[in-house]
Amino acid sequence: MGTSGTSAIAARTVRITALDAPFGASVEGVDRAAPWDAQTSAAIGRAFLDRHVLAFPGGLLDPGGVLAFARRFGEPISEVNREKRLGEIPEVSRLDSTIKAIESGKDLLFHQQSALRNDGWHTDQSFVERPAKATILHALEVPSRGGATWFCDTEAAYEALPADKKARLSGLEAVHGYDTVRARYRPAVRSQAEIDETPEVIHPLVRTHPESGRKALFLNCNRVDRIVGLPRAESDALLDELAAWVSQERFIYRHQWSVGDILVWDNRCTMHRVSYDSPAGDRRIMYRVVTRGDRPF
Ligand SMILES: [Fe+2]
Repeated sequence: MGTSGTSAIAARTVRITALDAPFGASVEGVDRAAPWDAQTSAAIGRAFLDRHVLAFPGGLLDPGGVLAFARRFGEPISEVNREKRLGEIPEVSRLDSTIKAIESGKDLLFHQQSALRNDGWHTDQSFVERPAKATILHALEVPSRGGATWFCDTEAAYEALPADKKARLSGLEAVHGYDTVRARYRPAVRSQAEIDETPEVIHPLVRTHPESGRKALFLNCNRVDRIVGLPRAESDALLDELAAWVSQERFIYRHQWSVGDILVWDNRCTMHRVSYDSPAGDRRIMYRVVTRGDRPF
C-alpha cells in the first residue's frame, strides 16, 4: 500500500467532537504515536485553534512517544525547574501532584508548595519573553476521585467584556515574574541558576493570537506582579477584577482525568489550575511537555 492510501484512511477515521462545555474537543480515531497525514494534521490544527483544549484518550505512551506527539504542536522546550526534568529526555517532565498525607520534612514541604502553586489560575511559563505555546500532559496515574484540571477561556472572557472595559485595557502591559507577592502560594526554594534565568518580563494585558488573530486576556495569577504605570492598589484591584471575571462558570471546562489521556491546550488563550481535592495518597502522575511560543503582542 502506498503512502497516499494510508493517508486517506487516517484522514477518514479521525473523529473530533466538541466537549459538552463552552470549549474543548475530544480527538479519537488517530494513532497518537504515529505520524499524521496532512488532512488529519490540518483538522486537528483547526480544532486546536477553535476549541483551545484537545483531549486524546488512549493507552500509555513512554516519554519518547509523548515527545513525538508534542512535536505536532510546536518545538518542545526544556523545563526551567531542573527538579522536574526527566534525565534522558529533558523536554519531558514528570509531575507528581499526589496529595501527601503528612506535611512535615523538607522534601514534603517542597512538594507541597509547588503542588499548591498549581492550584492558582495560570498560563504556563508566562514569566519568559516567549511563553509556552502549547502544553501537553499525559496521565500516567490518576486519583480515584478529584484532581481535575480546570481551564478557563481567556478569549471568550475578553470577548464578553463590555466595550468600555476593553477600551480601558487597550495598551496596558503587565509585569510577569517567576515569583510575585500576589501569588497565593510562593515558589519553593530555587537555585541561583534558576533565579538568573528568570528576570521579570513585560507582556500586553490583552494579546492577539498569532494564528487566529483573536484577542484574549493574558493573565497569570501566580506570575503577574503588577500593571505597568499603575499605583499598586489600582493595579491589584484591576488584576483581582480580571481574575474573577475569567473564572466565571461560563468560561470554564473541567477535565476529569483517565489513565492514558493526553491533553493539549493553547496557553495563548486559556488559563488552567489543578483542583487539589483528591484523597491523600492517591497518586497523580503526569508527563508534561511545553512547546515554544511567540512573543505576545
Ligand atoms: Fe500549569
